[in-house]
Amino acid sequence: MTSRNVLILPGDGIGPEIVEQAVRVLDKVNTQFDLGVQHESALVGGSAYDETGSPLPEETLSKAKAADAILLGAVGGPKWDGLDMSVRPEKGLLGLRSNLDLFSNLRPAILYPQLADASSLKPEIVAGLDILIVRELTGGIYFGQPRGIRTLDNGEREGFNTYVYNETEIRRIAHSAFLAARQRGKRVCSIDKSNVLEVTVLWKEVMEEVAKEYPDVELSHMLVDNAAMQLVRAPKQFDVMVTGNMFGDILSDAAAMLTGSIGMLPSASLNADGLGMYEPCHGSAPDIAGQGVANPLATILSVAMMLRYSLDAKDAADAIEAAVSNVLDQGLRTGDIASEGSNIVGTKEMGDAVLAAL
Ligand code: IPM
Ligand code: MG
Repeated sequence: MTSRNVLILPGDGIGPEIVEQAVRVLDKVNTQFDLGVQHESALVGGSAYDETGSPLPEETLSKAKAADAILLGAVGGPKWDGLDMSVRPEKGLLGLRSNLDLFSNLRPAILYPQLADASSLKPEIVAGLDILIVRELTGGIYFGQPRGIRTLDNGEREGFNTYVYNETEIRRIAHSAFLAARQRGKRVCSIDKSNVLEVTVLWKEVMEEVAKEYPDVELSHMLVDNAAMQLVRAPKQFDVMVTGNMFGDILSDAAAMLTGSIGMLPSASLNADGLGMYEPCHGSAPDIAGQGVANPLATILSVAMMLRYSLDAKDAADAIEAAVSNVLDQGLRTGDIASEGSNIVGTKEMGDAVLAAL
């Protein structure tokens, strides 16, 4: 049996609490399915900055490069808000994404039927919702140069960023989206702002070129403002949405909320070699950190994605997803997905219930 090395990065805020439950689940399926997973932990984000002065210590980066997969909790919090941009907790996350070239970010937004009442939209609008957002993660305005805040000759300050994508970057994320669509509804909607931004005129052209290699998949295009509106008007029209880094950041939060809670959604960030970093779509939720009330299910479901995409353990992934569905059937809810009459549990109790269901 080959051993599989997983690097655990709990991070900040609720990160350590939810990751603790996810690791218990990983350990359990590791034994049940004899997966040969070994794991170790490292620091990232604000907690790494506090210990080492860097949000992405060299040791963490080299362990990440050597791992077969990475599980991350969340980074950031008000404690570090005043820091210089170069050492903010978010830089730890962005540094991992860019150093490992994790360009393909898969963010599924699936509505569990048991949670239809938790959505802010009417049940009939969201029932059966199953969207996959494919977000480009290592380019665009997040990484474009030049960037900064400068002082002009007249003494006024000016902030600037650069929105840039080259053909290679667009082409590889297009392939990710088309390949993903082949495994599901066979429709890709590419999101752009081609009525204003040249970068996305090129984006659209390259999407069309790549589409020719996938005659079995239908490609359509939508402007990002309309896409935001359509997501809350009639979200079930979408199968796979593919878009750049910033639009993907924004649209994936909106899509997540359609499902009742961002606390339910896992994500995968993959590079060309199959190395993946898995994390919940939500942030570090400093307002509830340390209280034991955060929803660990998005992180637990991220373990399932990790088993499926990086560790070749589909059966274990299926088992985790079934266990999550089972605890929802039992009526167990953390505060974020609670509705009237539901049985509210804390982070650890939710973890216990998933373990019991496995
Ligand atoms: C996300 C987050 C990050 C992003 C932050 C924490 C840097 O919002 O993963 O969506 O903007 O990509
Ligand atoms: Mg975001």
